[in-house]
Amino acid sequence: MKYKVKSKEETESLAKKFAKTLKRGDVVCLNGDLGAGKTTFTQYVFACLGVKEQVNSPTFSILKIYKGDDIILNHFDTYRISSEEAIEAGFDEILDDKNSISFIEWGENISSLLPDKKIVVNIKIIDENTREFEILR
Ligand SMILES: Nc1ncnc2c1ncn2[C@@H]1O[C@H](COP(=O)(O)OP(=O)(O)O)[C@@H](O)[C@H]1O
Ligand SMILES: [Mg+2]
Repeated sequence: MKYKVKSKEETESLAKKFAKTLKRGDVVCLNGDLGAGKTTFTQYVFACLGVKEQVNSPTFSILKIYKGDDIILNHFDTYRISSEEAIEAGFDEILDDKNSISFIEWGENISSLLPDKKIVVNIKIIDENTREFEILR
């Protein structure tokens, strides 16, 4: 499904609806250029799932783990790492964990580690405040 959003507020509404569809063990792969809104979308979804603390871009830490309402949320940014490095860091086990939900920015870098059954979110920049979200399941 494709959704065109014209503001961050509309991205937030889309994130709210998307958050309601998620279940334990889901892996969400976010694709899109720098500044497309991968982190912003993740922040809104995590807030809906009960994360109280500020969700920041995990570009430098690669992985940050948050506690939501009765669910653990893993936020990866694999821009700078390979599949081999991800396995060394034990990320494959985290992705297999059926009790948490994982969001991965730049997941294509570790595509061999991702489950076949993943949710893909492609974000395209249309103009300054407009984005096209494509959600594939
Ligand atoms: N409709 C929108 N949805 C999401 N972000 C938007 C939107 N319009 C403008 N932005 C801006 O685009 C930027 C997205 O940045 P970020 O979420 O860090 O992108 P990424 O993680 O994909 O690099 C932010 O500065 C945000 O304010
Ligand atoms: Mg980001």
